[in-house]
Amino acid sequence: MWSATIGYRRYLEPYLPRFFADAAGKLALAGREALIDLACGTGEIAFGFSKYVGSLTGVDLEPAMIQGAEAAAKERGVKIRLIHSAVEELPDDLGQFDLVTIGKAHFWLKAEATIDRLDRILAKGGRIFICFAGTVRDGDSAWYRAYRQVRRRWAPDYPFHRLAEAPEEFLQDSPFRRVSAVRVVATHTISVDHLVNRAFAYEANSRVAIGDRQEQFIAELRAALAPYARDGAVKEKFQNRGVIFERSA
Ligand SMILES: C[S@@+](CC[C@H](N)C(=O)[O-])C[C@H]1O[C@@H](n2cnc3c(N)ncnc32)[C@H](O)[C@@H]1O
Repeated sequence: MWSATIGYRRYLEPYLPRFFADAAGKLALAGREALIDLACGTGEIAFGFSKYVGSLTGVDLEPAMIQGAEAAAKERGVKIRLIHSAVEELPDDLGQFDLVTIGKAHFWLKAEATIDRLDRILAKGGRIFICFAGTVRDGDSAWYRAYRQVRRRWAPDYPFHRLAEAPEEFLQDSPFRRVSAVRVVATHTISVDHLVNRAFAYEANSRVAIGDRQEQFIAELRAALAPYARDGAVKEKFQNRGVIFERSA
């Protein structure tokens, strides 16, 4: 249940304005395009592209995420049409879109039904942009492995293996082919408290998922991070990465 993460999502690895600017450049957006963000959550991807396209639509399965997106749109003064639906069951009368975005979500979508919907809603010459934001797992984020170990131990039944599916794999049996990719890497310093809060922003470790043993979970996260922290903070290298697809000729 992703809506259990609302309130903590600001602690996740951020999507950077530079990422959307670079993607808008590669996509050669002219500012008139109709964008639909599938599995939009609270709308981060749609809002990131808002100044580069003509209209925004968002779709999500969870009503609370749609409400979160609605609230975020109001706060930002951005217009977005929001639709409560599973991607695989998108209504037929939505029209067509020049840009379909999917952020941190293709892992959870059923490929065959999603590809069928993508084929229907993608306008002629349209593009699909599948993206995510995450920690870069190298020496610059040395704490990551220990942090992840605790998080995974506390969610033994969560299908983490699905997160390894590349966008290219997701669309391998589709009429769409990869044309290019965008990657932006940055570093920042974040506090141990920030990372404790971030853990609750993942569906696997949300406050609902952890239940009444949250204090112990927090203590284990803090103990795992302690060897890497200086003055209560660690350095994180993170990336925003997106892959662009278009219809095969
Ligand atoms: C990890 S969040 C990603 C949110 C946002 N796109 C982002 O990049 O931050 C995954 C979202 O996918 C939605 N979701 C999962 N399965 C879905 C489906 N079959 N149809 C529509 N939305 C779905 C969840 O409700 C959740 O909001």
